[in-house]
Formats: sequence, structure tokens, C-alpha cells
Amino acid sequence: MIAYQNENVVHTSVENEFDSATTDKFCKIGIEELDLKLGGGIPSGNTVLMVGSSGSGKTTLSMQFLANGAKMGERGVFFTITEPLFKLTKNMENFSFYDKKMIEEGNVNIIDLRIISERLGLDAEKYSVEDASALLDVLKDIADELQVKRLVIDSITALCYRLKTNEMIRDFIFKLGSSLASMGCTTILTSEVPPARQGHLQYSKYGIEEFIADGIMYLGDVDRKGDLIRTLQLIKMRGTAHSRSKVALAISSENGVQITPLLKSTR
Ligand SMILES: Nc1ncnc2c1ncn2[C@@H]1O[C@H](COP(=O)(O)OP(=O)(O)O)[C@@H](O)[C@H]1O
Ligand SMILES: [Mg+2]
Repeated sequence: MIAYQNENVVHTSVENEFDSATTDKFCKIGIEELDLKLGGGIPSGNTVLMVGSSGSGKTTLSMQFLANGAKMGERGVFFTITEPLFKLTKNMENFSFYDKKMIEEGNVNIIDLRIISERLGLDAEKYSVEDASALLDVLKDIADELQVKRLVIDSITALCYRLKTNEMIRDFIFKLGSSLASMGCTTILTSEVPPARQGHLQYSKYGIEEFIADGIMYLGDVDRKGDLIRTLQLIKMRGTAHSRSKVALAISSENGVQITPLLKSTR
């Protein structure tokens, strides 16, 4: 048994795990600065709500989480409901982190939830209680069968939109939460919110989604002399001593999402 120290975290392991995606404790996102901010990565098995308005980088960052996982030997599944599969893959092909091989080899699985619900014979617009439960069972079966360690639902907002009442949304969210907990994989649920107004941050459209989340990652922006700079802030993350400072988030084809310190405003 070897014990060693990495930043603020002490790991104990039978073998050196520095290069592996997931230690017993952490599931690395694979973006070094972000994993450092998290104190090592997302605590394994956590469900993280990734919140932001349209264009804030949610889809890109969550796909990068799966792609990096695949490179480190961890299988993942991406359930898309906001964008059709062909459009999503076409956008992702622009990024160097995205490699068609990981799809072909089944290390990253992209599944269009609209196609699944069509196959289940569900109404495309509104789900009944039974529909929601059937969909949840399918999600769980797919994740179990593929034995994924990483799971993304993009977005939980679009999924909840198809449920008719707040009560159904609450019920669905709690069932999803317990399903995710029993699967033991590390999950990102993306949450679409309007841009923040006067510093007021909203984490979810229905106000329920954050209750099943162990962590909340907020993607926003700040105005610097007329330039909108993308930002990332960890609002909460159970099971790790993490930084809460806001950092700048950049998106590029070469590096995907990158994190850098946010320079103080000169205004
Ligand atoms: N290849 C690229 N290089 C740089 N920026 C990109 C690239 N592709 C997309 N973007 C930026 O990322 C944004 C979309 O990010 P996305 O992850 O789809 O956001 P969200 O899922 O939160 O709506 C686009 O609005 C664009 O500004
Ligand atoms: Mg998106």
C-alpha cells in the first residue's frame, strides 16, 4: 500500500494512480487547472449540475469530460436532447479533443434521447408519468449495459420541459437522482438558464434540479470594456475542498475548454 500526496489531497492506493482518470476518490475532468480547482477532480460518483445560458460552453465542456475520460480508459455516455446527433457530432469534430475513434470503439457513446423516446412510442412534446418512468429505465439500462463510469445528460432542462407538472418534474428528478446514485458513475447534468441579471444567479429553470446535485458549476460571463469574457465558478461540490473563485473560460478548436485566472477589472 502506497500513500502519497497530490496538491491538497492524500490518496492511498495499491499502485500508482497519478495517470489514471479516476482514483478511488476523484474522477478527473482532464483539464488540469479545473481538476486543481476541484482539489483533484469531481468526487467519484457525484452528480454535477453544469449551469449556464446558451453558448456558455456546457455541451463542449461536458463532451470534453467524456473524451478525456475515454483517453484515460473510462467509458462514457452522452445523452443529448437539445441537439440532434448529427449536429452535435459535426460541432464536436471541430475540436481536437474529439476523436471519431473513441465513438467507433464505443468508449464515448452518444445517444439521442429523442430517438429513444420515439422508439418507446412516447409523445415527443409531453411525457406522462409512465413515459418518464420508461425513459428513466432505458437510461439506466443503457448505462448499466455499457458499464459507463461517466454520464452526461444534455440537458436536464429540456428533459423536464417534457414533463407536464411541477410534481412530475420533482418526482422524475428524485428518481433520476437515486438511479444515478445506484449506478455509481460520475454524472454531469447540464442546466439551461437565462443570462444572470444584476448578479442574481439562477441554477435551474424549475428550481428542483439543484437538489439532486452534489455539485454546481456555473458558466457565466463578465463584461470587460464591452468584451464578454466567459467565466466558470464552482458554487458547491460535496466531498472536496474546492476553490470558489471565478476564473476565465476560453473555448478554442485546439484546446477545447481552457481555464485561466480572471484578471481584475481595470475599470
Ligand atoms: N471551434 C470553436 N472554437 C472556438 N469557439 C467555439 C468553437 N465551437 C464553438 N465555439 C464557441 O462555443 C459556443 C458554444 O458552446 P456550447 O458548448 O455549445 O454552449 P452551450 O452548450 O452552453 O450552449 C459557441 O457559441 C462558440 O462561441
Ligand atoms: Mg448545449
